[in-house]
Amino acid sequence: MARLDDRVVIVTGAARGMGANHARRLVGEGARVVLTDVDAEAGAKLAAELGGGAAFVEHDVSREAEWDRVIATARETFGSLQGLVNNAGLLRRERIEDESPEAFERLLQVNLMGTWWGIRKAAPLLREAGGGSIVNISSTAGLKGYPGLSSYMTSKWAVRGLTKAAALELGPEGIRVNSVHPGGIEDTGMFGGSGATPEQKAQAAARIPMGRNGRPDDISDMVIFLLSDASSYVNGAELVVDGGSIL
Ligand SMILES: NC(=O)c1ccc[n+]([C@@H]2O[C@H](COP(=O)([O-])OP(=O)(O)OC[C@H]3O[C@@H](n4cnc5c(N)ncnc54)[C@H](O)[C@@H]3O)[C@@H](O)[C@H]2O)c1
Repeated sequence: MARLDDRVVIVTGAARGMGANHARRLVGEGARVVLTDVDAEAGAKLAAELGGGAAFVEHDVSREAEWDRVIATARETFGSLQGLVNNAGLLRRERIEDESPEAFERLLQVNLMGTWWGIRKAAPLLREAGGGSIVNISSTAGLKGYPGLSSYMTSKWAVRGLTKAAALELGPEGIRVNSVHPGGIEDTGMFGGSGATPEQKAQAAARIPMGRNGRPDDISDMVIFLLSDASSYVNGAELVVDGGSIL
């Protein structure tokens, strides 16, 4: 028996990067997965590759009405919902004095409000299933400071706080809510994608106690743990997966 047999899970931002890896790995663990993303072409292609255990919905996480379509797909295509991975995110490097108010607000709309909508919209279906697990992807930038990342840091610290509030409110109903804090993960959009040179990757790795950068599978392993029964008493926790980079 696989670790996520009989579970239905929504993964946002699943067209590429870590979200795509989570979707692939979750299907491999027996889950049926609703993949969502603003990138309809890549998202639909991946869902088709994953077969009958996957469905794709074009979805901007900052829009309430689009969340309703995602939830309806989980219910109508797979019949229930046991998990949600709030993974979609944006990053911008800009100093506070240079970033426009519109750009700052848009980043919060996606990274923070997108997570907030996800919790609100998924909770009724998770409740109906008798409980479930919500995994909010924050960052080490939700635990410490990095220069030039004010909007991103603000959003990721807020996701960490929102996770605690949701864990307190939903825990009594058997819905666990935890935050994951990845360090720098190679082969993702936020790490420079395939554009990062071997020298840049080596420089980043040299600063990490484990001697290497993170890989998408490092985070997928944690997400699978949090969605599975192996974490049934883990609620409101901050799971740092960074090779010790913030020590
Ligand atoms: N890559 C890293 O080093 C790193 C480190 C710490 C945390 N994270 C976090 O992990 C998550 C995934 O990051 P990644 O590096 O895989 O990113 P990525 O850029 O490779 O992929 C992000 C995905 O989110 C989608 N997306 C963007 N805006 C969206 C929206 N409004 N609605 C729905 N989908 C949207 C994109 O189309 C893309 O498919 C993010 O929350 C990010 O902040 C990444």
